Amino acid sequence: MSERLFAVLGEFENPKALLDAAVKLRTRYPGRLDAYTPYPIHGLDEALGLRRSPLAGMVLVMGILGTATAFLFQWWMNAYDYPIVVGGKPLVSWQAFVPIMFEVTVLFSAFTAWLGAVLLLCRLPGLWHPMLSSRSMAMLTRDRFALSIEAQDQDLDPSSAQKALKETGALETEVVAFPPAPKPASLTLILVLAGAGALACVFAGLAAYWTIKVFPKLPPMSRMLRQPRLDAQRSSALFADSAGFAPVPQGTVARGNLPYPFKTPEEAAGLANPLPRTKAVFAQGRSKFDTVCRVCHGPLADGKGTLTKAYGASPADLRTKRYQAFPDGSIYHTIMAGKNTMPSFAKTLTEDERWAVIHYLRGLQRAGDAKDSDLP
Ligand code: HEC
Repeated sequence: MSERLFAVLGEFENPKALLDAAVKLRTRYPGRLDAYTPYPIHGLDEALGLRRSPLAGMVLVMGILGTATAFLFQWWMNAYDYPIVVGGKPLVSWQAFVPIMFEVTVLFSAFTAWLGAVLLLCRLPGLWHPMLSSRSMAMLTRDRFALSIEAQDQDLDPSSAQKALKETGALETEVVAFPPAPKPASLTLILVLAGAGALACVFAGLAAYWTIKVFPKLPPMSRMLRQPRLDAQRSSALFADSAGFAPVPQGTVARGNLPYPFKTPEEAAGLANPLPRTKAVFAQGRSKFDTVCRVCHGPLADGKGTLTKAYGASPADLRTKRYQAFPDGSIYHTIMAGKNTMPSFAKTLTEDERWAVIHYLRGLQRAGDAKDSDLP
């Protein structure tokens, strides 16, 4: 026989016959059996004596590699190449790396699963298989089940293989040879295709260029570039020395931010609350107290806030006699300057808000120590 033998094929009536034959022939032709069926058949892998697919292992290895890659990449950027402390956290805050590690793991695993199955295991871009030249092929996609004994470049006597298949119940047998090798693609065709590809790239590039740069109606995001403005380190005609950014003249005060001269609560004690005790002021004071002071001093200003223990300091109980007698100005100073572990809230609250909080605080003090005469 001049043609190279690919396999000897036996057709079976139903899946059961196929499975039985596979089990019987497995020991005689180890590693050389393959099956062709119109739909997946359970138990066929074991009957053929096939190993488990290596795909799961490949995915595991690549998944671990993905996790490691993401971790190392983030470590390299955040702790080594460009270390920046964010919010006082350590440079290698692995908890913050987890989302990206998770995503890269999924990315690596998914690509491995897909490419591994399609390219490596199913050899997909190759759309050709010697079996496709078999005459049984049309039946095998409908209602026949075939078992093949492959030659695999070893000695395989077709007639004895055919006999073995018949003995195990094959209805028909067929000897499948490798079809003649396809002609290699001609050089001209390759050159024409490459030229067409290159030309398409050039056209795509020109089209993109014309759309973005030349087509006048579509300047991408250029309006911000065209506004009158002063770029950093550029000169300007505004000042005599043509400096773009002049230093702030000495003694400059920003609008609404008069300098605060006091250094101690005692010095500030003389300040008087300029706000009237109206419902609106109390409402504002309550809203600000609840957003700013409450976490530490508690909703009733009795020092039982949520942050107390975690914070490692016990905030003052502001309802005691001592703080009832504490002047408004001194509370104002505490808000402005803070005290020990209590930070300054000069930037958080406006002047009016500070005074409103103080009115509200006075209300809380009185509510915590109410007398009969306070009742309406
Ligand atoms: C982050 C927690 C925290 C917040 C928020 C906070 N405080 Fe305090 N506050 C403290 C602690 C702690 C003390 C006790 C400080 C000390 O005596 O060492 C204190 C003390 C005080 C005192 C007494 C100061 C003194 O001289 O004895 C006043 C008054 C006060 N706070 C008012 C306020 C007001 C008003 C707010 C809201 C604008 C506020 N605090 C927000 C933690 C806080």
